[in-house]
Amino acid sequence: MQRVEHLAEGVTLYLGDCREILPGLGRFDATVTDPPYGLGNKMQGGTWAAKDGFKEMLQWDRAPPPSVLLEEIIAMSNAAIFWGGQYFVLPPSRCWLIWNKTNAVPTMADFETAWTNLDRPSKRYDAPVGRVEFGHPTQKPLPLIEWTLGFIPLARSILDPFMGSGTTGVAAVKLGRLFTGIEIQPKYFDIACRRISDALARPDLFVEPPKPPKQESFL
Ligand SMILES: C[S@@+](CC[C@H](N)C(=O)[O-])C[C@H]1O[C@@H](n2cnc3c(N)ncnc32)[C@H](O)[C@@H]1O
Repeated sequence: MQRVEHLAEGVTLYLGDCREILPGLGRFDATVTDPPYGLGNKMQGGTWAAKDGFKEMLQWDRAPPPSVLLEEIIAMSNAAIFWGGQYFVLPPSRCWLIWNKTNAVPTMADFETAWTNLDRPSKRYDAPVGRVEFGHPTQKPLPLIEWTLGFIPLARSILDPFMGSGTTGVAAVKLGRLFTGIEIQPKYFDIACRRISDALARPDLFVEPPKPPKQESFL
């Protein structure tokens, strides 16, 4: 571990490799994460791939995490949600979450999926891809992650071992949850520290958090 930041009671960020840090952590109510998809060297064309931030992806997005690591992460929590689910080898699941990108372009995926181990129907979220607002090339839209956390309303402690710019942490603290995040790249770790500190300092009192999706009585 290279650095640890305790931003508030129950909100801790680690700079380092999650493979080294995770064995020293306890259990969590839920893991909500967005691991590397292994697409880095496939992004060779178009304006998106020409930007500096996307060249950085070649450093950390060469391959998805091995299933054995994902299984260890799943075992640390009662519930697990992995964005990028279509890129990983994971057990069969009843409940997939779909982000349908309403402004999709032909050279990029029209949708992303999240694998979950939840026992409830699969659901879809329609929303555009946002701007690269905080300097991370694959930053997830905050409303998408707030929507995701709505599926686990009782999960108080949230783990994200591939934190990037900290979107899961921002959503978690805005919704009053505890958060533990790990990021290997110092540049993204610093962005996450800043974003989550800002979210803690300025809770968005006037924005109502998304309501948990209703559980249907039949499939
Ligand atoms: C897909 S990005 C996450 C983006 C994030 N959801 C956001 O909104 O900013 C995956 C992140 O995992 C980080 N990463 C890759 N391998 C890691 C490892 N072994 N331990 C910790 N972080 C790692 C990468 O540096 C990258 O920032």
